[in-house]
Amino acid sequence: MIVARTINEIRQSVGAARAQGKTVGLVPTMGALHAGHVSLIRAAKAAGDFVVVSIFVNPTQFGPNEDYAKYPRTEQADLEACRAAGADAVFIPSVEEMYPIASQTEVTVKGIAAVLCGASRPGHFAGVATVVAKLFNIVAPDRAFFGAKDFQQTIVVRRMVADLNFPVQIVVCPTVREADGLAMSSRNRYLNASQRQQAPALYGALKLAGEMIRRGGVASQAVLAAMREHLAGRAPEGVIDYLAIVDPQDLTDVAIAERPVLVAMAVKFGPTRLIDNALVE
Ligand code: PAJ
Repeated sequence: MIVARTINEIRQSVGAARAQGKTVGLVPTMGALHAGHVSLIRAAKAAGDFVVVSIFVNPTQFGPNEDYAKYPRTEQADLEACRAAGADAVFIPSVEEMYPIASQTEVTVKGIAAVLCGASRPGHFAGVATVVAKLFNIVAPDRAFFGAKDFQQTIVVRRMVADLNFPVQIVVCPTVREADGLAMSSRNRYLNASQRQQAPALYGALKLAGEMIRRGGVASQAVLAAMREHLAGRAPEGVIDYLAIVDPQDLTDVAIAERPVLVAMAVKFGPTRLIDNALVE
Protein backbone atom coordinates (compact mmCIF):
# COMPACT_ATOMS: atom_id res chain seq x y z
CA MET A 1 0.00 0.00 0.00
CA ILE A 2 1.34 3.38 -1.01
CA VAL A 3 1.31 6.15 1.60
CA ALA A 4 1.38 9.50 -0.21
CA ARG A 5 1.73 12.75 1.71
CA THR A 6 1.94 15.11 -1.23
CA ILE A 7 -0.32 15.87 -4.17
CA ASN A 8 2.49 14.96 -6.58
CA GLU A 9 3.00 11.56 -4.98
CA ILE A 10 -0.67 10.58 -5.07
CA ARG A 11 -1.02 11.84 -8.66
CA GLN A 12 1.94 9.70 -9.63
CA SER A 13 0.60 6.51 -8.07
CA VAL A 14 -2.89 7.07 -9.50
CA GLY A 15 -1.29 7.79 -12.89
CA ALA A 16 0.65 4.52 -12.73
CA ALA A 17 -2.54 2.57 -11.89
CA ARG A 18 -4.37 4.23 -14.76
CA ALA A 19 -1.52 3.39 -17.12
CA GLN A 20 -2.18 -0.27 -16.22
CA GLY A 21 -5.80 0.18 -17.25
CA LYS A 22 -7.20 0.29 -13.71
CA THR A 23 -10.22 2.33 -12.66
CA VAL A 24 -9.84 4.50 -9.58
CA GLY A 25 -12.07 4.66 -6.51
CA LEU A 26 -11.75 7.33 -3.84
CA VAL A 27 -12.90 7.05 -0.23
CA PRO A 28 -12.60 10.49 1.39
CA THR A 29 -12.28 10.40 5.20
CA MET A 30 -11.07 12.43 8.14
CA GLY A 31 -9.44 9.38 9.72
CA ALA A 32 -10.18 7.87 13.15
CA LEU A 33 -11.37 5.02 10.99
CA HIS A 34 -14.05 2.60 12.17
CA ALA A 35 -16.13 -0.15 10.59
CA GLY A 36 -18.27 2.43 8.74
CA HIS A 37 -15.21 3.75 6.89
CA VAL A 38 -13.95 0.21 6.32
CA SER A 39 -17.25 -0.71 4.65
CA LEU A 40 -16.64 2.07 2.11
CA ILE A 41 -13.09 0.85 1.39
CA ARG A 42 -14.41 -2.68 0.90
CA ALA A 43 -17.17 -1.44 -1.41
CA ALA A 44 -14.58 0.43 -3.47
CA LYS A 45 -12.43 -2.68 -3.61
CA ALA A 46 -15.44 -4.81 -4.61
CA ALA A 47 -16.09 -2.39 -7.49
CA GLY A 48 -12.69 -3.46 -8.77
CA ASP A 49 -11.03 -0.09 -8.43
CA PHE A 50 -7.53 0.99 -7.52
CA VAL A 51 -8.64 2.27 -4.13
CA VAL A 52 -7.37 5.54 -2.72
CA VAL A 53 -8.37 6.45 0.84
CA SER A 54 -7.82 10.09 1.76
CA ILE A 55 -7.29 10.96 5.40
CA PHE A 56 -7.47 14.68 6.06
CA VAL A 57 -9.06 16.48 8.99
CA ASN A 58 -10.29 19.38 6.93
CA PRO A 59 -10.12 22.60 8.97
CA THR A 60 -12.45 24.55 6.67
CA GLN A 61 -15.49 22.41 7.48
CA PHE A 62 -15.28 23.02 11.24
CA GLY A 63 -16.89 26.06 12.84
CA PRO A 64 -14.87 28.27 15.23
CA ASN A 65 -16.38 26.61 18.32
CA GLU A 66 -16.29 23.06 16.98
CA ASP A 67 -13.93 20.16 17.64
CA TYR A 68 -11.22 20.66 14.96
CA ALA A 69 -8.34 20.83 17.46
CA LYS A 70 -9.44 17.80 19.44
CA TYR A 71 -10.76 15.73 16.52
CA PRO A 72 -9.20 12.25 17.01
CA ARG A 73 -6.03 11.68 14.97
CA THR A 74 -5.02 8.01 14.92
CA GLU A 75 -2.68 7.74 11.94
CA GLN A 76 -0.98 4.40 12.67
CA ALA A 77 -4.22 2.58 13.40
CA ASP A 78 -5.82 4.21 10.33
CA LEU A 79 -3.04 3.04 8.02
CA GLU A 80 -3.40 -0.47 9.43
CA ALA A 81 -7.18 -0.40 8.87
CA CYS A 82 -6.68 0.79 5.27
CA ARG A 83 -4.16 -1.96 4.62
CA ALA A 84 -6.40 -4.64 6.15
CA ALA A 85 -9.40 -3.45 4.10
CA GLY A 86 -7.42 -3.67 0.86
CA ALA A 87 -6.68 -0.01 0.07
CA ASP A 88 -4.06 0.46 -2.63
CA ALA A 89 -3.00 3.96 -1.62
CA VAL A 90 -3.59 6.36 1.23
CA PHE A 91 -3.40 10.09 0.62
CA ILE A 92 -2.63 11.76 3.93
CA PRO A 93 -1.66 15.37 3.26
CA SER A 94 -0.80 18.08 5.78
CA VAL A 95 -2.93 21.22 6.05
CA GLU A 96 -0.09 23.13 4.33
CA GLU A 97 -0.15 20.70 1.42
CA MET A 98 -3.90 21.15 0.92
CA TYR A 99 -4.07 24.86 1.73
CA PRO A 100 -0.60 26.34 1.05
CA ILE A 101 -2.02 29.83 0.78
CA ALA A 102 -5.28 31.26 2.09
CA SER A 103 -7.86 30.21 -0.49
CA GLN A 104 -9.93 32.81 -2.24
CA THR A 105 -12.09 30.24 -3.96
CA GLU A 106 -14.72 28.00 -2.44
CA VAL A 107 -17.53 25.77 -3.66
CA THR A 108 -20.85 26.78 -2.14
CA VAL A 109 -23.91 24.65 -2.74
CA LYS A 110 -27.06 26.66 -2.03
CA GLY A 111 -30.53 25.48 -0.94
CA ILE A 112 -29.95 21.89 0.15
CA ALA A 113 -26.78 22.87 2.03
CA ALA A 114 -28.52 25.60 4.03
CA VAL A 115 -30.99 23.44 5.98
CA LEU A 116 -30.63 20.72 8.68
CA CYS A 117 -26.91 20.41 9.52
CA GLY A 118 -26.20 23.43 7.30
CA ALA A 119 -28.46 25.59 9.47
CA SER A 120 -26.72 24.47 12.68
CA ARG A 121 -23.21 24.57 11.19
CA PRO A 122 -22.89 27.65 8.95
CA GLY A 123 -20.11 27.22 6.39
CA HIS A 124 -19.76 23.49 7.07
CA PHE A 125 -20.95 22.28 3.67
CA ALA A 126 -18.93 24.90 1.80
CA GLY A 127 -15.89 23.46 3.57
CA VAL A 128 -16.96 19.93 2.65
CA ALA A 129 -17.81 20.72 -0.98
CA THR A 130 -14.56 22.63 -1.44
CA VAL A 131 -12.30 19.92 -0.03
CA VAL A 132 -14.17 17.17 -1.90
CA ALA A 133 -13.79 19.18 -5.13
CA LYS A 134 -10.06 19.52 -4.42
CA LEU A 135 -9.76 15.77 -3.72
CA PHE A 136 -11.64 14.99 -6.95
CA ASN A 137 -9.22 17.22 -8.87
CA ILE A 138 -6.19 15.72 -7.15
CA VAL A 139 -7.16 12.03 -7.43
CA ALA A 140 -9.47 12.17 -10.47
CA PRO A 141 -11.43 9.07 -9.39
CA ASP A 142 -13.96 7.23 -11.56
CA ARG A 143 -16.02 6.53 -8.46
CA ALA A 144 -16.17 8.10 -5.00
CA PHE A 145 -17.73 6.35 -2.00
CA PHE A 146 -19.73 8.07 0.73
CA GLY A 147 -21.79 6.84 3.69
CA ALA A 148 -25.54 7.29 4.04
CA LYS A 149 -24.91 8.23 7.67
CA ASP A 150 -24.12 11.71 6.39
CA PHE A 151 -27.13 11.78 4.06
CA GLN A 152 -27.12 15.53 3.53
CA GLN A 153 -23.42 15.41 2.65
CA THR A 154 -24.17 12.83 -0.07
CA ILE A 155 -26.76 15.00 -1.72
CA VAL A 156 -24.60 18.13 -1.43
CA VAL A 157 -21.75 16.24 -3.12
CA ARG A 158 -24.05 14.79 -5.78
CA ARG A 159 -25.38 18.26 -6.51
CA MET A 160 -21.89 19.74 -6.79
CA VAL A 161 -20.86 16.92 -9.14
CA ALA A 162 -23.92 17.51 -11.34
CA ASP A 163 -23.67 21.30 -11.33
CA LEU A 164 -19.91 21.40 -12.01
CA ASN A 165 -19.73 18.37 -14.34
CA PHE A 166 -17.21 16.36 -12.35
CA PRO A 167 -16.68 13.08 -14.27
CA VAL A 168 -17.13 10.93 -11.15
CA GLN A 169 -19.83 8.50 -10.08
CA ILE A 170 -20.99 8.91 -6.48
CA VAL A 171 -21.69 5.64 -4.67
CA VAL A 172 -23.59 5.79 -1.37
CA CYS A 173 -23.15 2.90 1.10
CA PRO A 174 -25.45 2.01 4.03
CA THR A 175 -24.87 3.23 7.58
CA VAL A 176 -22.90 0.77 9.71
CA ARG A 177 -24.14 0.53 13.30
CA GLU A 178 -22.98 -0.80 16.65
CA ALA A 179 -24.84 -3.88 17.93
CA ASP A 180 -27.20 -1.61 19.90
CA GLY A 181 -28.08 0.50 16.85
CA LEU A 182 -25.84 3.53 17.44
CA ALA A 183 -24.46 4.71 14.09
CA MET A 184 -20.69 4.36 14.08
CA SER A 185 -18.95 7.71 14.23
CA SER A 186 -15.46 8.97 15.02
CA ARG A 187 -17.18 11.23 17.57
CA ASN A 188 -18.73 8.35 19.58
CA ARG A 189 -15.47 8.11 21.49
CA TYR A 190 -16.21 11.51 23.08
CA LEU A 191 -19.27 10.07 24.87
CA ASN A 192 -19.03 9.24 28.57
CA ALA A 193 -20.56 5.99 29.85
CA SER A 194 -23.98 7.40 30.59
CA GLN A 195 -24.18 9.32 27.28
CA ARG A 196 -23.04 6.22 25.40
CA GLN A 197 -25.78 4.22 27.08
CA GLN A 198 -28.43 6.77 26.01
CA ALA A 199 -27.15 7.36 22.46
CA PRO A 200 -28.89 4.34 20.84
CA ALA A 201 -32.15 6.21 21.49
CA LEU A 202 -31.47 8.11 18.25
CA TYR A 203 -31.80 4.90 16.29
CA GLY A 204 -34.79 3.91 18.41
CA ALA A 205 -36.51 7.17 17.49
CA LEU A 206 -35.77 6.57 13.80
CA LYS A 207 -37.21 3.07 13.96
CA LEU A 208 -40.31 4.38 15.70
CA ALA A 209 -40.69 7.03 12.99
CA GLY A 210 -40.29 4.38 10.27
CA GLU A 211 -43.04 2.24 11.79
CA MET A 212 -45.46 5.19 11.99
CA ILE A 213 -44.69 6.35 8.45
CA ARG A 214 -45.15 2.88 6.97
CA ARG A 215 -48.73 2.85 8.34
CA GLY A 216 -49.37 5.64 5.82
CA GLY A 217 -51.01 9.06 5.76
CA VAL A 218 -49.51 10.20 9.04
CA ALA A 219 -48.79 13.87 9.78
CA SER A 220 -45.08 14.62 10.15
CA GLN A 221 -45.86 16.60 13.30
CA ALA A 222 -47.28 13.49 14.96
CA VAL A 223 -44.18 11.48 14.05
CA LEU A 224 -41.87 14.22 15.31
CA ALA A 225 -43.82 14.42 18.59
CA ALA A 226 -43.46 10.66 19.09
CA MET A 227 -39.73 10.88 18.37
CA ARG A 228 -39.34 13.73 20.88
CA GLU A 229 -41.13 11.70 23.51
CA HIS A 230 -38.96 8.65 22.81
CA LEU A 231 -35.79 10.73 23.15
CA ALA A 232 -37.00 12.46 26.31
CA GLY A 233 -37.61 9.06 27.93
CA ARG A 234 -34.54 7.17 26.67
CA ALA A 235 -31.95 9.91 26.33
CA PRO A 236 -32.65 12.53 29.02
CA GLU A 237 -29.16 14.04 28.60
CA GLY A 238 -29.65 14.47 24.84
CA VAL A 239 -30.44 17.98 23.63
CA ILE A 240 -32.21 17.97 20.28
CA ASP A 241 -30.54 20.16 17.67
CA TYR A 242 -33.07 19.23 15.00
CA LEU A 243 -35.56 16.52 14.10
CA ALA A 244 -36.91 16.68 10.58
CA ILE A 245 -39.04 14.80 8.10
CA VAL A 246 -38.09 15.92 4.63
CA ASP A 247 -38.19 15.14 0.95
CA PRO A 248 -34.98 13.14 0.32
CA GLN A 249 -34.36 14.96 -2.98
CA ASP A 250 -34.46 18.60 -1.89
CA LEU A 251 -34.64 18.31 1.93
CA THR A 252 -37.77 20.47 2.19
CA ASP A 253 -40.16 19.70 5.07
CA VAL A 254 -43.12 17.52 4.24
CA ALA A 255 -46.43 17.89 6.11
CA ILE A 256 -47.65 14.33 5.52
CA ALA A 257 -44.95 11.70 5.73
CA GLU A 258 -45.55 9.82 2.48
CA ARG A 259 -42.76 7.53 1.27
CA PRO A 260 -40.05 8.00 0.19
CA VAL A 261 -39.20 10.33 3.02
CA LEU A 262 -36.06 11.08 5.00
CA VAL A 263 -36.16 11.24 8.79
CA ALA A 264 -33.07 13.09 9.99
CA MET A 265 -31.81 14.22 13.36
CA ALA A 266 -28.98 15.80 15.29
CA VAL A 267 -28.78 15.43 19.07
CA LYS A 268 -26.12 16.84 21.38
CA PHE A 269 -24.76 15.06 24.42
CA GLY A 270 -22.79 17.78 26.15
CA PRO A 271 -20.51 19.17 23.41
CA THR A 272 -20.78 16.01 21.30
CA ARG A 273 -23.16 16.34 18.39
CA LEU A 274 -24.45 13.08 16.92
CA ILE A 275 -26.40 12.76 13.69
CA ASP A 276 -28.44 9.93 12.26
CA ASN A 277 -31.10 9.45 9.61
CA ALA A 278 -33.31 6.88 7.97
CA LEU A 279 -34.70 6.83 4.48
CA VAL A 280 -38.21 5.37 4.66
CA GLU A 281 -39.00 3.86 1.27
P1 PAJ B 1 -15.74 11.27 7.93
O1 PAJ B 1 -16.67 11.74 8.99
O2 PAJ B 1 -14.43 10.71 8.33
O3 PAJ B 1 -16.51 10.21 7.08
C1 PAJ B 1 -15.91 9.67 5.91
C2 PAJ B 1 -16.95 8.85 5.17
O4 PAJ B 1 -17.36 7.75 5.99
C3 PAJ B 1 -18.24 9.67 4.86
O5 PAJ B 1 -18.69 9.36 3.56
C4 PAJ B 1 -19.19 9.18 5.93
O6 PAJ B 1 -20.56 9.28 5.54
C5 PAJ B 1 -18.76 7.73 6.04
N1 PAJ B 1 -19.23 7.17 7.32
C6 PAJ B 1 -19.03 7.67 8.57
N2 PAJ B 1 -19.66 6.92 9.49
C7 PAJ B 1 -20.28 5.91 8.81
C8 PAJ B 1 -21.08 4.79 9.18
N3 PAJ B 1 -21.40 4.56 10.45
N4 PAJ B 1 -21.53 3.97 8.21
C9 PAJ B 1 -21.22 4.20 6.90
N5 PAJ B 1 -20.45 5.23 6.48
C10 PAJ B 1 -19.99 6.07 7.42
O7 PAJ B 1 -17.51 12.81 6.08
C11 PAJ B 1 -16.36 13.19 6.22
O8 PAJ B 1 -15.41 12.48 6.92
C12 PAJ B 1 -15.85 14.49 5.61
O9 PAJ B 1 -16.90 15.42 5.57
C13 PAJ B 1 -15.24 14.31 4.20
C14 PAJ B 1 -16.27 13.78 3.19
C15 PAJ B 1 -14.04 13.36 4.27
C16 PAJ B 1 -14.74 15.69 3.69
O10 PAJ B 1 -13.80 16.22 4.56
